[in-house]
Amino acid sequence: MIDIFTGGQGGDEGKGDAIRYVAGKLGYTVVLKVGGCQAGHSTWYKGRKFGLKTVPCAFAVEGVELRIPSGAYIRTDWFLREVEETGVGGRIKVDPYCAIVTQAHTDEENADNNMKGIGSVGTGVGKCLRDRVERKPNFVFAKDVPELKHFITDVTGEIHGRLKKGEDIGVEGTQGRKLDLLHGEYPYVTSRSVISPQFLAEIGAGPRFVRDVYTVFKPYESRVGPGPLKGELTDEEVLKKYRQLGGEVGTVSKRPRRIGAFDFEAAIRTIMLNSTTRLVLTHMDMLEGFDKDHTKYTGEAKRFLDDFIDHLEGIYGVDGEPYPKLALMKTGPMPEDIIDFDLL
Ligand code: GTP
Ligand code: MG
Repeated sequence: MIDIFTGGQGGDEGKGDAIRYVAGKLGYTVVLKVGGCQAGHSTWYKGRKFGLKTVPCAFAVEGVELRIPSGAYIRTDWFLREVEETGVGGRIKVDPYCAIVTQAHTDEENADNNMKGIGSVGTGVGKCLRDRVERKPNFVFAKDVPELKHFITDVTGEIHGRLKKGEDIGVEGTQGRKLDLLHGEYPYVTSRSVISPQFLAEIGAGPRFVRDVYTVFKPYESRVGPGPLKGELTDEEVLKKYRQLGGEVGTVSKRPRRIGAFDFEAAIRTIMLNSTTRLVLTHMDMLEGFDKDHTKYTGEAKRFLDDFIDHLEGIYGVDGEPYPKLALMKTGPMPEDIIDFDLL
């Protein structure tokens, strides 16, 4: 079956750590990273923090095969560098129709003032996507790049073979619903849709094989560029805490992220758009009154968690089984700082 990991807010919720944990727990045989290389996922591995744009965070789970499908946008140089850094050369493959973001795309996007105005990180994914849509004769796919030759495989064909055999597969989504081209806060959005049905299209599968859709939230909102942000924090001292302890600095852009209050109305919409079945909360350690042992919460942490469960758990139900359910909670930046509600 397929499990999909989606971002509940404006991206950077910590999808990387979430899928990494579940990949190890449920034994996914393959994890696919969809979408563009402007979205950086980070995770700690062997004492080092990896900020990855192309290699899935589940690289940290030994034995998991890694795949880049035809709905992905990569830069060849970044891909090769990350493969070397993570040492996954023997277990990563790329679909022949994965799109290649060229230096010309990056340069064009960096020179585009409109894109700067909406807070684009300037990777060039939007320009690459446009060229693909326009069917430009010189458009480059992974199959056209000699350096990628020995990584090429029919990813979609392979995953259907694996699904037929009953294997479990994880899809590492990018960004978050507020950045969705069709359902987000236009024009402060990314160049594609970033909800579960889009991710399925990007790997080339229909909903039949989907088991769970995980949606990852932080107990506050963050944004790396301009755009609406309710209840925005302005106190520099408080913001410093988010940046230093919460890592609220763009993985790719290195820009400090803006911080706002959790938006329940938007979260309900996000759950509907994704058909979320399992909720993940990260960065709970940023709230006052949080208890790492998960025995007693007080103050801000207790208020937030109660509200979160009241508003978002069980808004759907099938055969008496409510969903979504709070499945996981991250309590710190390290991968092992995690509470699994299935095990409590
Ligand atoms: P995008 O596709 O860019 O949205 O990526 P992402 O959702 O994987 O998130 P990203 O890695 O960009 O940002 C999350 C950051 O928070 C990383 O620096 C993580 O190491 C860190 N992090 C994850 N969970 C927690 C947590 O519970 N507490 C704290 N303090 N940091 C966390
Ligand atoms: Mg990120």
